Amino acid sequence: MLSVVPASVTVRAPSKVNLHLAVGDLRPDGYHDLRTVFQALSLHDQVTVAPADTLRVEVRGPDAASVPTDSSNLVWRAAEMVAERAGRTPDVEITIDKGIPVAGGMAGGSADAAATLVALDALWGLGAGRSDLDEIAAQLGSDVNFCLHGNTALGTGRGEQLVPVLSRGTFHWVLAIAKDGLSTPVVFRELDRLRASGDPQRVGDADELLHALGAGDPHALAPLLGNDLQSAALSLNPALRRTLRAGVEAGALAGIVSGSGPTCAFLVDDQRAAVEVSAELSGAGVCRTVRIASGPVPGTRVVDPARS
Ligand code: C5P
Repeated sequence: MLSVVPASVTVRAPSKVNLHLAVGDLRPDGYHDLRTVFQALSLHDQVTVAPADTLRVEVRGPDAASVPTDSSNLVWRAAEMVAERAGRTPDVEITIDKGIPVAGGMAGGSADAAATLVALDALWGLGAGRSDLDEIAAQLGSDVNFCLHGNTALGTGRGEQLVPVLSRGTFHWVLAIAKDGLSTPVVFRELDRLRASGDPQRVGDADELLHALGAGDPHALAPLLGNDLQSAALSLNPALRRTLRAGVEAGALAGIVSGSGPTCAFLVDDQRAAVEVSAELSGAGVCRTVRIASGPVPGTRVVDPARS
């Protein structure tokens, strides 16, 4: 039987917010041990792969100019790694439609890498199992595994070791996207510096937060959100304090810096509150743009052309 090679494959990958992010001490390999609760959000990137004569990357969307299209883009390495395993050349064009803020602490680069793994697996008919993709994902970056899996999960190690977390219902978020990005390694280094010269408060354990997620109760969840990287992000970009304050004044239940920032994520009551808070925040002039999202959503998956 002849196998049909698709002309292209399109994949959707979610962004993430860390509901709880406890950062341990610096490890000898330059990473920090994490204990984090991730939630996948509906703000997503879409990646399309199609056969080409050589590996090429194209980026679309309002932030396209700030995304590299050369081998420094994580999708490039992702394509090379899948091709190497398949014993072929990575002769594909990868088109990234960016919906996730660039350098925003929402795993946009990791989402694109995860999408590339799933898309090439489908385009080349490799039939790689989850564990194969997980193995490559862990080598690409700390958040790539979570972008593959989606939903809500507890991450340990660098953040790449995941166990699913029970989360009931849908949580609603408003995201304040800053004018400039923050570099993840710079934020971790700033936290090391702050810890060397005092000890910024650390988040406790995640037990109560996991309970609130299981109950599906945003009011119980709101005061339990916590992020050890927040003090470092605020130290590098003090204007984020104003953004966080403005979101709560606009009616959010709570606000945190998402991952290494600078995106601020505000938990709100419901869809209606999301619209109200987002309108209020847009008018407050404390960020570049505002988006509404909900979570948890599934991980990286092929978009069914009939349903997109
Ligand atoms: O894994 P990823 O490439 O996304 O990480 C980017 C940088 O963030 C790392 O080089 C490291 O400086 C920092 N990092 C860390 N500890 C982690 C994850 C990331 O120090 N667990």
